[in-house]
This record gives sequence, C-alpha cells and structure tokens, in this order.
Amino acid sequence: MIKLGLIGYPIQHSLSPWIHEQFLEKSKLTGEYRIYEINTSDNFKVEVDKLKSSGITGFNITVPYKETIIDQLDELDESVKKIGAVNTVLNDNGNWIGYNTDGLGYVKSLTTKFPQLANDKNKRVLIIGAGGAARGIYYAFLQERFSQVDIANRTTKKAEHIITMNEGHILSDVLTLDEAESDLNKYDIIVQTTSVGMKPNINDSILTLKNINKDAIVSDIVYQPIKTKLLQKAEKHGCQIHFGHTMLLYQAQLAFNIWTNHDVEVGDMDVQLQKILEG
Ligand code: ATR
Repeated sequence: MIKLGLIGYPIQHSLSPWIHEQFLEKSKLTGEYRIYEINTSDNFKVEVDKLKSSGITGFNITVPYKETIIDQLDELDESVKKIGAVNTVLNDNGNWIGYNTDGLGYVKSLTTKFPQLANDKNKRVLIIGAGGAARGIYYAFLQERFSQVDIANRTTKKAEHIITMNEGHILSDVLTLDEAESDLNKYDIIVQTTSVGMKPNINDSILTLKNINKDAIVSDIVYQPIKTKLLQKAEKHGCQIHFGHTMLLYQAQLAFNIWTNHDVEVGDMDVQLQKILEG
C-alpha cells in the first residue's frame, strides 16, 4: 500500500489528491494521497515527525513550508541545493530525501506541448518574475541547456540573485520590466511567473505585449483563470500559448515517479483538470 500526502497551509482545496489518485489508478497501484494540513500555529517539527513515523512512502510539501522542511531531511537532491526549496519528499527506508520537481515539471509541460523544443534548445527565453516559482523554472531551463534565459523583474536585485545559479553554461541577463516591454521581440519563449492576472484581478497583465514576435510562445503559470489576460493578448498577436495548469500535472508526474518508479502518462488529464478549474 503506497501512502502519499501533502503538507502545507491552507491546502483543503488542493488539486494534488485528484491528480495522484488518477496516477495511482493509471499505474494499477493500491494507495492513497491524503491532505495533512499543518496550521502555522502548530509545532511543525512535531507534526512532520508524526507523519514520518506513520509509514508514509513520501509526500509533497507546499506553501508556507517548502524551505522550513529542509532542516528535517537527511539528504537533498541537486535541485533543492540549487533552488533552496522542496516540493517532494521520499522516504527511502528511513532516509528522508528532498527534491524539487516544480521547475522541471514546468519545462516538461512546455516540451510536451511543443515537442520541437525537445530537439531545438537554441531558443531565447524570457522569464518574467523572480520569486520562488521563477527560481525553479530558471533551474530547469538551465538543466535543459536552453541557449539564453533572461529574467525581468520589478525588483532587479532578485533576478540578479537567481542568475548566479548559472555557472557560465548559458547566456543570461537581467532586465527591468520596461526593458522587457521594449525588447520583447528578441524572445522565442516568454514565461510569466508572477501572480499578476490571477483571480480576482483578471484584467491585469504584467506586459502589454505590443512588441511581441508573433512566432513566440507565451506561457503563464497563473491557472486561475486558465486563459489569463496576458494569454488573451498573446493569442490576438497570433502567438502560441501555454497554460499554467499543465505545470501542476507534470510536477506531480515527476514526484509520482520518485515515489513509485512508475512513468505514468498524463494523457488527457490537462483537459479534465481544465474542466475542474473552470467549475
Ligand atoms: P512565488 O513563490 O509564487 O513565485 P513570490 O516569491 O512572492 O511568489 O514572487 C512573486 C513575484 O511576483 C516577484 O517576482 C514579484 O516581484 P518583486 O520581486 O518585485 O516583488 C512579482 N510581483 C508580484 N506582484 C507584482 C506586481 N503587481 N507587479 C510586478 N511584479 C509583481
């Protein structure tokens, strides 16, 4: 019996149980994926110790504990050493190992939708935003050796910090949001990682896209709404668009593989998840 779960707060509306229950079914494995909400007033270490002694196979971890959990792990995957945050923990016979599949899952969702990217990494990528999500996504583009990955952020210092992760393997620059607006036509892939445009502020868009190259792919990790203002604008310019909810599925797929060694197919779960999100 595979015992999986999610810790975080608040997580009652998390989509992860639905995703992993589908994966268990598709893999014909007997198991469960439960929500373990840990209130911020609870003793986090005590709660994690309880979970560890419950015979759990592994768990996901989300806000606000992605960094706090690190002290309670025995081993950290390279992804965590670089990103500084954990979203997946494996119980390897009592050795607790932390991984981060968020950014890698994002890039997998992108290369699955646009398979030509798997063979042609000679692309100029612009990441908008420099928070935790951007950090994981930058790491993944670096791993995949896309030729150039720049970051534009309101606070450029944060973007400068992220690109120190690059040890000269790829080209990387930091831009202000104004510079991003005016130089947008240089980029093949634009990835929006901030919360701008998220419900209820659905009419907000971090860029006007007036200088976008119509051959570019525009991607937004915001998935509520599914088609953000930014993606609507991109479509009007004739760009190809990529939806944020697919990232959820592929970060989960990579986590499921870490726990079970099963390469489960995502298939049409993106369509099903879109329906769930749209109510
Ligand atoms: P997450 O972990 O989800 O990435 P985060 O760490 O809070 O969230 O990061 C939020 C990102 O959204 C940051 O890049 C933030 O810009 P700053 O670094 O300048 O704070 C960006 N962001 C949020 N609201 C924004 C807004 N109204 N305009 C521009 N950028 C915004």
